[in-house]
Amino acid sequence: KKKVILDVDTGSDDAIALIAAMANPDFEVLGITTVNGNRAVPITTENSLRISELMGGTVPVYQGCALPWTSCMLGLRKNYPQYEAPADAKYRNIHGTYIDQCPKATKKAEDQNAVSWLVDTLMAAEEESITLIPLGPLTNIAHAIRIEPRIVSKIKEVMYMGGGFRIGNKSALAEFNVWLDPEAAQAVLDAGIKNFTFVPLDATHQAYLTKEDAARIRAIGTRPAEVVADLVDQRIFGYSSWQKVEVEDAAPIHDPLCVAALVDPTVLVDVMDAPCVVDCGRGSAYGVTMFDILNGRMEAKEPNCKVALHADRQKYVDILCQLLENTKK
Ligand code: BDR
Ligand code: CA
Repeated sequence: KKKVILDVDTGSDDAIALIAAMANPDFEVLGITTVNGNRAVPITTENSLRISELMGGTVPVYQGCALPWTSCMLGLRKNYPQYEAPADAKYRNIHGTYIDQCPKATKKAEDQNAVSWLVDTLMAAEEESITLIPLGPLTNIAHAIRIEPRIVSKIKEVMYMGGGFRIGNKSALAEFNVWLDPEAAQAVLDAGIKNFTFVPLDATHQAYLTKEDAARIRAIGTRPAEVVADLVDQRIFGYSSWQKVEVEDAAPIHDPLCVAALVDPTVLVDVMDAPCVVDCGRGSAYGVTMFDILNGRMEAKEPNCKVALHADRQKYVDILCQLLENTKK
């Protein structure tokens, strides 16, 4: 079984990713670590606990960083982590504050902080044995590597939902997860992780689900499938008044694409090796991921990641359904 850790800012699409991962019999989910992102970290923790309970309550949740790595110290991101629900009603429709589809969690997060749990767990693991699936800002992972760089060799692979090659959703070219903590993303890239894949907006915007897909998922008939279907419908409603998607009545379901890619890598299309640099210059490109996919120029650098430029939508929906079918057993 793949030993997996999900680092999340739950979030509607993180919630679906958690369900899909915990429904996968080929994964051993060692733990869920939470981070400031879509919502303040106590909320992303509560939401993750709700989903863990929905899936049987055996996967522990560790609360992580409440603030981005350096940008708060630099005087940036002053208000961002402090909110409970953003003023923008359209945005609220996509994530909600709490995952209302599930009851309040009965358990609390573990006492240990996510960063120190990551350090301990990775240090105790075999070389190249752990799969990390970060689905929010890379704050926890950057801290863990900064505290104990030897954890890097314990990582088998990282499948990260973040960044944009030609698409941004927070500024013209910056994607939310990287934009919220660009310095952390750069620090993680600099750590020399061997097998780091970006699943950026370019891929996830092709990994959209429609109302028909939501109905197909609902028909699976289990509670986790219903929760997923509700969350997909909620996102379709939210996107209808926010960002343009490829087709009407559809929404990108970003985060679970990373889970799907670990089930079947061919769901990611045009995966390129590239050197990537995150703009930390605090100008209009702050938080932009620059993937030098041609990398044949004078300043060519060694690739430090892979980046998926497209996704196979139909395969994605099929994988999600197949994973959710397991919740019948
Ligand atoms: C990413 O930002 C968050 O809102 C989503 O959960 C996803 O991880 C997409 O840019
Ligand atoms: Ca997320």
